[in-house]
Amino acid sequence: MSENNKTVLKQGNINIEIETRNSSFTPYNGFDKPKFYGRRKGRTIRKAKTTLLEAFLPKIKITADSVFDKEKLFDLPVKEVALEIGFGDGQHLAGQALKNPNTGYIGAEVFQNGVANLLTLITGIKEGSNIPQDIKLIDNRVDNIRVFDDDIRLLFKQIPDNFLDKVYILFPDPWPKKRHAHRRFVNPDNLKEIARIMKKGGILRIATDHKIYKGWALRQVKENGNFEWTAKCGNDWKKEPADWVQTKYQLKAIREGRRPVFLDFAKK
Ligand SMILES: C[S@@+](CC[C@H](N)C(=O)[O-])C[C@H]1O[C@@H](n2cnc3c(N)ncnc32)[C@H](O)[C@@H]1O
Repeated sequence: MSENNKTVLKQGNINIEIETRNSSFTPYNGFDKPKFYGRRKGRTIRKAKTTLLEAFLPKIKITADSVFDKEKLFDLPVKEVALEIGFGDGQHLAGQALKNPNTGYIGAEVFQNGVANLLTLITGIKEGSNIPQDIKLIDNRVDNIRVFDDDIRLLFKQIPDNFLDKVYILFPDPWPKKRHAHRRFVNPDNLKEIARIMKKGGILRIATDHKIYKGWALRQVKENGNFEWTAKCGNDWKKEPADWVQTKYQLKAIREGRRPVFLDFAKK
């Protein structure tokens, strides 16, 4: 239903207004390096994390040329493969990978300090730790995380159709100004690629604490046409999902009085 440029999405007992404003979205041409608007580096990365980036990251790193074969990618038989885009400090990625040793996780993150933090979480090596010659994962961890430390858009072309069981986009940068809307990660180009690489029945999870982004994401995914929003009532999207692991940005949002929502979409 459309009225005064506002659209209401009705589903189960949910009635929600979704974004209708059109932004001047320019599709990525697939050849040039895509423009990235966030930060690639933050505070100076200290010694332990620098060592992790130099000596440990190469062991679990994938590149834009990696072969996407489940067995080759993970060196262990994984039942499912999940992708987390923009894993930030890595809490969710590390937490999910620990809870689900039979799932292979691919994490993509541009921000080097975030990548370094993930490496600390999975090796246990912090500033002041003794750094062994051969850095290994913490004892109870299986080797089920692979890291792409660059813009996921550069990797999309390498991922085969119907490859992924789950895709997480958690608290993406909201770019709330209308003139910055084209920077939002959940956009027609990226959703087209995500729909292509996901299996039927797979779950795309988008979490956000931003009012505009909530409506924007619902609108974009609906317009993509390849996904079904699974929520039927408020509890299905206003409460943390049962398999959730908290993230840094989620906790920041809660501290600042914003209420996150968790949107699960099933691939048709
Ligand atoms: C607001 S942070 C949220 C981090 C984390 N998901 C959390 O909830 O704490 C968004 C992250 O997405 C990353 N990001 C944005 N666009 C990306 C892209 N195209 N490829 C990989 N990472 C991206 C940014 O570098 C940033 O760390």
